[in-house]
Formats: sequence, C-alpha cells, structure tokens
Amino acid sequence: PPHPHPHPHRGESVTSAETGPHDAGADFPAGFLWGSATAAHQVEGGNVNNDWWAFEHDPSTAARESSGDGIDHFHRYEEDFTLLASMGHNAHRLSLEWSRIEPAPGEFSTSALSHYRRVLTALADRGLTAFVTLHHFTLPRWFAARGGWLAPDALELFERYCSRVAVELGDLMPFVCTVNEPQMVALHGYLEGYHPPGVTNAVLWKRVGRTLLAAHRVAVRAMRTGAGTPQCGLVVQLPLLAPARADDEGCRAFCETMRGEIVDLYLNGLSGRDRGDWLGVQYYRKQWVDSASPTLFAQPPAGVRISQMGWAVHADGLRLILHRASETGLPLYVTENGIATEDDSERVEYLASHLAAVAQAMAEGIDVRGYLHWSAFDNFEWAEGYVPKFGLIAVDRENDFVRTPKPSAYAFERIARTGRLSA
Ligand code: NOJ
Repeated sequence: PPHPHPHPHRGESVTSAETGPHDAGADFPAGFLWGSATAAHQVEGGNVNNDWWAFEHDPSTAARESSGDGIDHFHRYEEDFTLLASMGHNAHRLSLEWSRIEPAPGEFSTSALSHYRRVLTALADRGLTAFVTLHHFTLPRWFAARGGWLAPDALELFERYCSRVAVELGDLMPFVCTVNEPQMVALHGYLEGYHPPGVTNAVLWKRVGRTLLAAHRVAVRAMRTGAGTPQCGLVVQLPLLAPARADDEGCRAFCETMRGEIVDLYLNGLSGRDRGDWLGVQYYRKQWVDSASPTLFAQPPAGVRISQMGWAVHADGLRLILHRASETGLPLYVTENGIATEDDSERVEYLASHLAAVAQAMAEGIDVRGYLHWSAFDNFEWAEGYVPKFGLIAVDRENDFVRTPKPSAYAFERIARTGRLSA
C-alpha cells in the first residue's frame, strides 16, 4: 500500500497535513520535514551478531564499553514514536540491522523482517515519514569474517540483502538512506582503526571508500526491484576544513587537496542513473588543518565552543556545506546535525543557530526539504560509548530506560510546529 502521508518527491509540489500551512512570514515552508535520527546499533540493544558487538567485547580495541541493551528501543519503538510525534515531528530516520535480517549468509529471518514491518508501520501510523538507512556502520559477523567491504563478493552480498529488504519492506520506505557516511566507515575503520575492523592502512581505506560508493549504486538499483517507490539518497558528512594558520599557503593548498579528493569521490562520483534521488547532508563541525601535525589536524583556535566530542561548533559551516552539496543538483535533506553536551542549553543554541543557517541557505536558493536532528535520544556513541549526550530526549539507563524530553526537545518542537525561528 502507498505511504498514507504525503511526502515531497523531486518535482512534485509539497503539502503536509502535519505541520502547515505556515503563513508567508515563516522561515520554513509548509511540508518541510522535521524529525530526528537514530541508528539500530546505537539504540536497539542486544545486537550481538554484528561486527561492532565483537569489537566492543575485544579488550584490545578502542571501544570503551559494550552497547549492551542500547536504550531498549527494540522493544520500546511504539512509545518512542508516539513521543516524537507528540513533539511536532513529522519524519524520523532509523536504520535496519542487517545482522538481524540476515543472521547467516542467505538465511533471512522472518521474525526480524516482521519486526521491521511493525516498526515502519508504527511510524506511518503516527504520521512520521520514514527515512530508512540500509547500512549504518554495522555488518553481520559472517560478512565481516569474509573480509567485510574488502571481500571479493561484498557488493553481491550487499545487493542480496538490499533486494530482500526492497521486496519485504519497500512499500513502507518513502526515503531510503543507502550507505551512512561512507568516508567515515573508510576513515575510522581502515585508516584510523578505532572502528571495526580496526585496520590502519593508507591504501585500503580509499579502496573501501570506492566500494561503499559502489554499494550505494547497488542499493539504488535494488530498491527499484521491490515494493513501493523508495526515494534513495547517499548520506554524507562533507568536511569543513580551514588552514590552522591563515597565512600558510602550503596548508591552504593542502586543505583544498583533502577537500577536493573527498568531494570528487563522494559528490562528483554521484552521477548517472544510479546516483539516487536526493542527497543527505550530515554536518557537525569545523576542523583546522595543519599539514605539519602528525594527525594533520590542529586544535581549534581559542574561544571556539567545543562539544563533548572535542568538536568545534560553527553554524555557518552548515550553510556552506549545503551550498557545496547543492552543486550535485539533487534535492537536499539534512539527515544529521547535532551536538554532544551535558549542558542542554548549548543544544538549544546549537539548534537555533544551525536551523538559522539552513533557513539562510534556503533563502539563498538552496533546495533543502527537511532537517533530522542527531539524535532523538541519548544513545551509544560507538567507540565513545554512552558518555557523549547527543539526545533531545534523555534516557535513564539505570531506571527502566525512562525517557525525559530536554528543554531542547521543546525548543525544536516550537520551531517545527510554527516554521519560525523566533517565537
Ligand atoms: C555520524 C553517525 O552517522 C552517527 O552514527 C553518529 O552517532 C553521529 N555522527 C555522531 O558522531
């Protein structure tokens, strides 16, 4: 059955019963998609059959703690979606856990597929337009054991999984995020080594990056063979780099080369029939580059606000990145943006300044159609564990996973409901 709630497609006019219509003076149009994002392994709990679980339980890796029960979203998705819808959201991004759907090669779990059918139905029932990520960092252990993205048949195996998902769930997936942050998978997993498989290799990581772009194309093709008409997009975090010393020409040139390589692979690489229908922009921070430093990066200058992750806050960067992403000609959605902080007033400010940057980009002619905040809930931040707090909603993991919306959740609700930055 078609998705019961209208959602924007390329070239179609946009309407929304949930948020609009906003009046002429609004900063965001009626039909703009407002929501938040999660990923399976960061919230579900008990994902014992993937490469991350193995990594978390290997004392020799960079992982600081086990994902354990997550925030028990696997069992609490209905109340979670009810809460998000009650706070003005009309969209939601989540990911499917491949290791649940295909626990052994070629063996698909009816139970897992029906679980995700219920999850996606629960979203639709609440008027939340689904953005469904096919690959968000985790891999089934059997796939990792064959060499993961370096396995000779990696793309065929990924295609088999995507095709099955397309057939079983495609009718409930208005938007599909194919591969989450391919360059981060490549960089953290194969160059820096603090994500699985923990490899540090200056050659392999580029190969993995190219394979993941090919995986995006495979997913786009697979989604056309199933039920429904999912609109597919790659979701990328493009770097915002600045030379550590403004007067250092060598460093400036080096920044341009780094930026150029990434833009070339992940944006210019998006061409042809399988490039997808839209592009997801994920933005967190600005980075300063120092070609003389062993890590290639320098500390942010004094006075710049730093998050729990050590990331520098720079709202105008989101506007610049949206301009750059728009050069692909694809409609854009912000599929992640947020800050890790214990001080929620910082999140309120971050939201206001970054949404102002989105509004400004739109006023400058950029086609942005939705904003999904990272994250709905405090959750498992990969190698950093549960310490960084990215959520609009707090979760008490010691006391029955009780959810408590933070002031930032209400600030977001007001903007989403009115389409206006200021009250
Ligand atoms: C990128 C990833 O997609 C997400 O899983 C992660 O938690 C956030 N950014 C914050 O680091």
